[in-house]
Amino acid sequence: MQRLLFGEDKFHFVAPFKSQLLKWIGNKQRFAHEIAAYFPTEYGTYFEPFLGGGGVLGTIAPPKAVASDVFKPLMEIWQALHDDPETLKRWYAERWYALMSKDKIAEYERIKACYNERPNGADLVFLCRSCYGGVVRFRRADGYMSTPCGVHKPISPRAFARRVDKWHARTRGVTFLCLDYQEAMAKPRCGDLVYCDPPYTHTQSILYGAQGFSLKRLFDTIAQCKSRGVYVALSIDGTKKSGNLVCNLPIPEGLFEREVLVNCGRSMLKRFQMEGQSLETEVVADRLLLTY
Ligand SMILES: C[S@@+](CC[C@H](N)C(=O)[O-])C[C@H]1O[C@@H](n2cnc3c(N)ncnc32)[C@H](O)[C@@H]1O
Repeated sequence: MQRLLFGEDKFHFVAPFKSQLLKWIGNKQRFAHEIAAYFPTEYGTYFEPFLGGGGVLGTIAPPKAVASDVFKPLMEIWQALHDDPETLKRWYAERWYALMSKDKIAEYERIKACYNERPNGADLVFLCRSCYGGVVRFRRADGYMSTPCGVHKPISPRAFARRVDKWHARTRGVTFLCLDYQEAMAKPRCGDLVYCDPPYTHTQSILYGAQGFSLKRLFDTIAQCKSRGVYVALSIDGTKKSGNLVCNLPIPEGLFEREVLVNCGRSMLKRFQMEGQSLETEVVADRLLLTY
């Protein structure tokens, strides 16, 4: 359980959910329960407009939600999970057996070439679990998936199928959509909750499928949500080397009420007006900004 260093702001216990379905850069599953602990205790529909590998979605298993991402092959996987989980299992199993019964690297490269020829969820679900380090990387210029074959043995079709069943049950109430976040964030109404985990890093070095990203546009969209009475939680900017809360993000004055540091062994919450003050040295943390 986490400890708050500043203020008495409420947080609540959320059980960790360890079973990962997809491997995805920036996946939050390992500490999703820490993030969700700061969600309001009551809200209407849950929205996750930068879904990726869905670490937070899977952890909270919301009864009613809209989960979206702009990356079409990824959303094909989520839609299959929801509408036709047996097909999702088959996509994985077919590729796994082919890989195991042939020259592993040659078969991996064949699947990768198929994906790059025509990006699709069936190849992507297997590539993300079998690629090197589980890090699916895309070339900025054209979205080419470039990660080589991993050295590990991808989980068996049976183990993958068990995860599909678990995730299917946990996401029954979710509508999965392929949308730009701005369109997705126009949907929530007063009392709904939006959790944003955008593709921003301090170095801008991690890229998802050749997309660029404007943080300013995101802050404007969050401000519009807030003005409608929507709760917004924003994860941002993974790693810090010093306790100074670094990085000069163009955060509009008054947009967020609180900031929490999570995934640093324990979490720290500070009043937003303490911006820039050092909490401690050598903190490695994810920032969570809350409009409530
Ligand atoms: C940091 S990842 C999310 C990781 C996720 N929280 C998890 O646990 O796996 C960011 C995601 O934002 C998506 N994305 C990038 N630009 C977007 C946009 N304009 N609209 C919606 N999604 C976008 C990327 O495709 C990527 O999947």
